[in-house]
Amino acid sequence: MADPPPHSQLELFLTSDQIQQRVQEMGAEISRDFAGQSLLLIGVLTGASIFLADLARAISLNCDLDFISVASYGTQQHSRGEVRLLRGLEHPVENMNVLVVEDIVDTAATLSYLRTMLLAERPALLKVVTLLDKPSRRLQTVTADTIGFTIPNRFAVGYGMDFAGYYRNLPNIYCMPPASNWSSLHLGKTP
Ligand code: IMP
Repeated sequence: MADPPPHSQLELFLTSDQIQQRVQEMGAEISRDFAGQSLLLIGVLTGASIFLADLARAISLNCDLDFISVASYGTQQHSRGEVRLLRGLEHPVENMNVLVVEDIVDTAATLSYLRTMLLAERPALLKVVTLLDKPSRRLQTVTADTIGFTIPNRFAVGYGMDFAGYYRNLPNIYCMPPASNWSSLHLGKTP
């Protein structure tokens, strides 16, 4: 596989300001919906880590944090819909108000797996928030309760999301160009 293009050649999709504004709105909405309650935020590693850090600070309730790591089988850009657990939670979730924090819901295989797993632990409440939602690729009918942005069927990177370990620390969100264009992008050619 050729190296992915430098970030200057990615297609800008959402600026840091747009993301931050929406994260503040989502934090305020969650604070209203769960007023008077405590929450356990569960971030899905690694992609949701940056979103979770910003969202937690936009929520004006008592929040504890935990993280879970899962892997889905498939290629870099296409999940096959099979999920396995890599790292479990540190907190028991029984009787807790749980908010799962996802970077992106794509096929929803991850979300479906996590919902089944967490519901078996009998939380008081289980809700899901995702920054991005790509409804066109669903294999499962589940969806998030709170959605930041609904996006078309493009591969998004930045703000925690990666392609092969690249781009996670970019403050904006970009779309990857099709892989067939990468080498010409490196050379500055029109594809
Ligand atoms: P799922 O297909 O909904 O199970 O998504 C599984 C995971 O694949 C997400 O949590 C992301 O980590 C990753 N993923 C899916 N689509 C994208 C994308 O467009 N950019 C980066 N990661 C993605």
